[in-house]
Amino acid sequence: MAKLWGGRFDGKNEAWIDAFGASIPFDQKLAKQDIIGSLAHVKMLGATGIITTEEASEITKGLNILAEKVANNEVTFTIENEDIHLNLEKMLTDEIGLVAGNLHTARSRNDQVATDMHLYLKEHVQDIIEKMTDFRRVLVEKAEEHVETIMPGYTHLQHAQPISFGHHLMAYYGMLSRDQARLEESLKRIDLSPLGSAALAGTTFPIDRFMTTEELGFAAPYNNSLDGVSDRDFILEFLSNSSILMMHLSRFCEEIILWCSNEFKFVELTDTFSTGSSIMPQKKNPDMAELIRGKSGRVFGDLIGLLTVMKGLPLAYNKDLQEDKEGMFDTVHTVATSLEIMTGMIATMSVNTIHMAESTEKDFSNATELADYLATRGIPFRQAHEIVGKLVLDCTQKGIYLQDVPLEEYQAITPLIEVDIYDTLASKTAVIRRHSFGGTGFDQVKAQIDLAKKEL
Ligand code: ARG
Repeated sequence: MAKLWGGRFDGKNEAWIDAFGASIPFDQKLAKQDIIGSLAHVKMLGATGIITTEEASEITKGLNILAEKVANNEVTFTIENEDIHLNLEKMLTDEIGLVAGNLHTARSRNDQVATDMHLYLKEHVQDIIEKMTDFRRVLVEKAEEHVETIMPGYTHLQHAQPISFGHHLMAYYGMLSRDQARLEESLKRIDLSPLGSAALAGTTFPIDRFMTTEELGFAAPYNNSLDGVSDRDFILEFLSNSSILMMHLSRFCEEIILWCSNEFKFVELTDTFSTGSSIMPQKKNPDMAELIRGKSGRVFGDLIGLLTVMKGLPLAYNKDLQEDKEGMFDTVHTVATSLEIMTGMIATMSVNTIHMAESTEKDFSNATELADYLATRGIPFRQAHEIVGKLVLDCTQKGIYLQDVPLEEYQAITPLIEVDIYDTLASKTAVIRRHSFGGTGFDQVKAQIDLAKKEL
């Protein structure tokens, strides 16, 4: 079959080579955007008199028919027509005849594909931002339920100091808020129109790029036609922001996986978000959390893949750029679905508050409380640290905890220690007293939640 660009070729096409060069198996996802771009372009061609108003209106009619067919899944794409742009142009020709050939005046597939990608990403980043807001809302709701739930806070995965579970959840709220802000900020750079850059150098036709920019709802046109057709930094920025977001989700999932284990038993996921084992009847596995942790890898891969595709490309368009698509589609899908799963999983997760709190009572996570107690009574903190360290060693040998040490023994160490030490050593007291701004004290966690509610 003759190619739409076949004029200067007389060799015959080979199906297996066509298949290697084609992007239609994946860029058909851009059908809607491609038609929207063409509608704006043809309107401008008509308005500027580059084609006649009759031609413009026939093409517009044809494009609207195609839009309808695409929406109803009534089109068949072919490898012979290589990509979404040529497939749709062929269909338009079948629909309205040779007048369709006027559509490609003052345009190239190079600015066409870049425009499609900008339109696609703008729509999907906005959708992802909405999903992030839903997730952040759920985090705040959960945190509010658990302001007073005590859990062990960790460093090095060792019990460090007791904290509020609400505080822990609000840490993720903070990360997700910055992730969302990054995506919102990136919209400025996605919101640009490459259309009218043509192949690379602009065009001799009197086009109106500002008109198509406005028609497509973009904030501004690219100022430089070479830049407009050849850069993909707007996609790289999305992949990079998505990588950071997925890293955050992955850390959270890692914690959920630990918390579901027999060793922790801090939370339980609903059956909906768990799966069983084909051999071990007792198993209830946190597969969804594991998958999100795993899927972070493919998003990082999409970023590194495109960076590598881009790094050696001379200006302007090179066919290598066709490799920009699958990674972007993959990341859009991965991020959107991961966020939906996270939102449902956290909203329905039950928390074993009693066990969580109890696990702060069979440890030395109150050792800082004792050291602080001594320091506020005049012993320099370094010496206080030394005294408590020795006491912890002694307790470990005896198999008891700081709260089990009798008052006489405390007073033998220093008479500065009085009976109020036992209240000071209680986990709940340790949490409540951490009033410093952003600390885990209940009042501080509530303040974080209030702030978050205002943001949302
Ligand atoms: N399918 C191509 C891509 O995705 C469209 C642009 C083709 N341009 C060209 N000069 N061959 O990059």
